Parts: sequence; structure tokens; C-alpha cells
Amino acid sequence: MTKFWILLLGAAAWLPAQPNLMPWPAKIAMGEGSLAIDQNFNTSFIGTPDSRVQAAARRVVRQLALQTGIPLTEGFRDPTHARLIIRCDSAGEAIQKLGEDESYRLEVTPQQARLRAANPLGILRGLETFLQLVEPGAKSFVVPSVVIEDQPRFPWRGLHLDVSRHWMPLEVVKRNLDGMAAVKLNVFHWHLSDDQGFRIESKRFPKLQELGSDGHYYTQDQVREVIAYARDRGIRVVPEFDMPGHATSWFVGYPELASAPGPYAIERKFGVFDPAMDPSRESTYEFLDGFIGEMAALFPDAFFHIGGDEVNGEQWKKNAQIQAFMREHQIKDNHDLQAYFTKRVQQIVTKHGKRTEGWDEVLAADLPKDIVIQSWQGQKPLAEAARQGYSGILSAGYYLDHMEPASTLYMVDPLEQETATLNAAEKSRILGGEVCMWSEYVSPENVDSRIWPRSAAIAERFWSPQETKDIASMYRRLDAVSRKLEWSGLTHLSSYLPMLRRLAGDQPIDSLKILADVVQPANQDARDEANNTQQTPLNRLVDAARSKSKTARDFAVLVDKMDRDQIRAWLILWRDNDAKLEPVLEKSFLLMEEIPASKDLSRLATIGLEALDGRLSDQRAFLEQAKKLHAEVELAIVPSIEKLISRVTEPRP
Ligand code: ACM
Repeated sequence: MTKFWILLLGAAAWLPAQPNLMPWPAKIAMGEGSLAIDQNFNTSFIGTPDSRVQAAARRVVRQLALQTGIPLTEGFRDPTHARLIIRCDSAGEAIQKLGEDESYRLEVTPQQARLRAANPLGILRGLETFLQLVEPGAKSFVVPSVVIEDQPRFPWRGLHLDVSRHWMPLEVVKRNLDGMAAVKLNVFHWHLSDDQGFRIESKRFPKLQELGSDGHYYTQDQVREVIAYARDRGIRVVPEFDMPGHATSWFVGYPELASAPGPYAIERKFGVFDPAMDPSRESTYEFLDGFIGEMAALFPDAFFHIGGDEVNGEQWKKNAQIQAFMREHQIKDNHDLQAYFTKRVQQIVTKHGKRTEGWDEVLAADLPKDIVIQSWQGQKPLAEAARQGYSGILSAGYYLDHMEPASTLYMVDPLEQETATLNAAEKSRILGGEVCMWSEYVSPENVDSRIWPRSAAIAERFWSPQETKDIASMYRRLDAVSRKLEWSGLTHLSSYLPMLRRLAGDQPIDSLKILADVVQPANQDARDEANNTQQTPLNRLVDAARSKSKTARDFAVLVDKMDRDQIRAWLILWRDNDAKLEPVLEKSFLLMEEIPASKDLSRLATIGLEALDGRLSDQRAFLEQAKKLHAEVELAIVPSIEKLISRVTEPRP
């Protein structure tokens, strides 16, 4: 049989039958024929029993029933008659560990699928691969014949979710855990406290949540529920409590922790603020010992994130007692004062049985080397940390609020640029990376649309062989994965039309959607400049618009191919849209701000049509203006219009 097989290396875009897998597996060989998924589909299990595997197999059957419409039975069958045989050779760790074996082998023939792994985590990963392979065939749903041998490139593949700036209810967390599992992400980094909200129940220090959360926090039972849900999907949960800065919400209930007298209120603006914990007082460490002890008992994971980012030191400079403390201890500046604080907190974290993790800023001389550095500032500090003996993970380049396209996020690699120059031992300290979803400009309604599908492309960067870099292949598979992610309950696609309908009131949304389809939300910096706060409703076009418009991407492909007919069809649609849309915009206070964007879209399309017809005039000034933000959105087709102009004016060979 092997002689018919073609080995697919990396993401071989040239193969027409390339399956829509994401992340792309380490090794894959396509076979002949396919396994039918029909009412006879059933699973059987051999090996060490594991509740995660059994629950995952039940989810697979439920998902297949939903997809195929065939009423399939849950539960395990006799292996001789099963269509999917799962074999797991050993039990996993009682608490999922960093670096635990996630490898698996999946072999599908027209008769049967066999999934084998040494550890339950490999079975979980392999089942997600199996689900991604299911496609409609001519007679039934099918899974193509294939042999996959797969394992991750990095052991730490995370999604960081900020629930402080905007509260994210439990169901948002759970559906995103489902999305993570689908693309083999394995660390949920829960950013539970920041200036704008303290989001977890402390029984020892109840004023944290009572006064610091506006009533939006997770109870400890809910936290346990999330941890169990994540464990079932092979995901570790790492909590973050940001300190000594980004901690205003703690000080509302416990002002004595801060470096200046209160009273404090929950911060409503976004940015970097002066309040910081007082590192000079023993009472601060006594409090943190109690709090960290409580949280360390609640979260089973071996790692505990203490934040440490963006401390501006203003309160420290102005506090005479802190200044005296620094002189007494020969602490020369704020950086060293923070290092003193980090060292003390690291000792507390260690005492409670955990390893400390922090953002770049915690990096300082003479800290214990078991600290894990999460770099938000780039490969350079990450490389520096690895050279000094620290383990690290990369988040710089994976900030979803920067609104970069999947193609940009996809090319960022934890082991490229400065980290590429590390020696083998140093490289082995780079554990992986984390996608970051900061929540200044997301609500439960649109957060999925910022996370997905782009995080699937980053998940591939963390899992797949380094050379997997074909952007066209990535986008083709990303679109397919995006559709499948929707079935797991994510709302990244489905929240769009309701948001547009709400904007339009009782008016039709057709012409609004044509505009919305080609706008790109401004990034976080630009939105901060517009003086938004936690109380700004996220109900405008900028909030409904999808990050990186698929329409604009499809149009860019047409321009690259110079498909004149299709280009013309789009341009006519856009040129004529303003006349229909303007009456809609004029009737709504929420939409009125989009009048200039709609007019500019129409004019851009007119210029594009003139270019196609060889009637060019100098439009550079207008094109520059059209690139600017309109009510916090950008017109995403401007680069393609510029390209079209240069294509029609370039001399023919
Ligand atoms: C950060 O972005 N301040 C970690």
C-alpha cells in the first residue's frame, strides 16, 4: 500500500487534496480512498482507561452527529467492529505537566481509523485532527486515508485572556477553551486582576472582589469548574495576578497595600497608572503570602504568574518611607526596587509550591533561575533571558489587539530573530509562546472575533515544524478551520450580523454590510487616543468589524491575478454603495460617523474603475487621506487600489 502514498512535506500548497488541518502535522502521508462516516460509525477503546479520553471520544461522536446529521451512538464498542479504535498506552499525570507527551499516530484506511498515543494528551490532540479531517463526500461524510505522526514543536502553547478590562463570563471562557483544544493550544493564561477589575473570589481577602470588581468576578467554585473543563481538553490553567503595578483594583479594598494613601477607585481609563504596591513594608508580603497561598491551593498548575509589567515608579519616588528604605538597603533605582519585590514574591510563590512566571520587566540580575519570562517586548529580551539561564515564552508579535492580519502573526516565530542566535542549550529554554487577548476593546459579544480565527494560525506556529510557512495554504486552511470552530460554540462569525442589525435599527443592513466587510478596526493605540474608557459601549461599527477583512483579502488576490472582470464587479458594488447607504447612516446617531468612510469607499472604487479603464488622474493626495482612520476604522482596500493603479500604469513587458 505504501507505494501509492505521497509524503507531504511541510504545508505543501501544490497538492490539490491537502486536508484542512490546522495546525499542520509534523508528518503526514495521504493514502487512497476514504473511511465513510455513516450511522455505523462507532469508537472503541484499548489500554489504560482515562476519563479525559472517554469524555473526548463522546464529544467526537456528538460533534460528528451534529456535522453529519446521522444519529450516532455514544460509547465504546468491541474493537473488531469499531470504525475508530483508540489506544492509549498509559495514564497521564494527575496534574497536567509542562512537556507531558502529546504525540500521537493516526492511521485511517477505508475500513478503520486507528489512533494511538502513549499518553491521554496525545489521544486528545489526535481526536481533534480526526475531526478536522471529516468532510462531505459524494455518498457520505468521509475521512481520507492518511497516516499522521504528530507531535508539537513547543510544549507551551498558550492563549492569554484579560478578563479585567472587560469582564468575560464563564461561557466565554469555556467556549474559548473549546477553540483552544480544537487547534491544540494547551495553556490558558487567565489575566485575573489589573487596574480595571479584580476578577476572582478571595475568601481571605473578600474586599478584593467585593470592592474591586463591580460584582463581576468568578467564584472559587466557578474557577474549579473552568480548571476541570480545561483539564478535560488537555489545557493547563495558569493564573496571573499582576503586581506590583497594574493593581489599582486591589487597593480599592486594601489601600494599605499601595505606596500612597487612598482612597482608591476602580480605574476606568486604559494605560499605565501610578499606583503600585509598597515593596518596603513587611505587611505587603504578609498579605501576599496569604493571598498567594489561597490561590496556589485553588490552581493546581505548577506555574503562577505575578505580572510585573509597566511599573512607572511614580508612587515610589514620592514616598519618603520607600526612599529611606532604598537608601538603607542600597537599592539604587526603581528597577532594583522592583527586583527586590520580585525576589520576595518569588520566595512566597516557591513556598506555596509553584514556579514563578512574569513579564519581561521582572528580569533582573540575581533572581532565581526557575522564573519563566514571558516576553511582550520581543525576541531580544527573550534571548537575553535564555542566555542568563531563564526559561521563556514569546508573546511579542502575538498581540491580537494590534489588529495585524493572520499572515503577519503567522510569521512571528519564538526561535527567529535574536533567539535564532542562541546555542542549543539556550534554545531549549524557549518553551513556546502565547497569543495575547487584552480586553480594553473587546466585550463578551465580540471577543471571539478578535481571537478567532487568527489564533489558529499562531497555534500552528507553536505546534508545526518551523518550515511550515506557506501563507496561501495557511489562509485556505484557516478559513476551513474558522468554519469548524463555529460549531464548537464560538461566535467569531455569528456575532457579526446581529451587531450590524443593532446598528441599523429597523433599516436594512445590506449596504451597511458592504461597507463593514471592507473596514478594519483601529488597533489599541489608536483607540486609546480617542479617549475610550471601560465604560465606552463597544457597539459601533469599529466593534462589529472583523479584524482583517476577508473581503479585502480576497480582493487583494484578485488584484494580484489581475482578474479584471471580478475586480470590476467589486468596484462597481463599492462605488454604488454610498448612494444606498447614506440614507441609512443619516438616520442613526451610531452610524452617522461612518458617512466619510462610505464616501471614501465610493471614491476609492471610482478611482479603481478609472484605473482599469486607463483613465488615470493623480489621486495620491486622496489615497493618503483614505488611509487614515475614519471613526476608528480603516478602509482595508486602499493598498489594493494603489496596487491596481501601479499594475495598470507599469510598462508592459
Ligand atoms: C503588557 O503588555 N504590558 C504585558
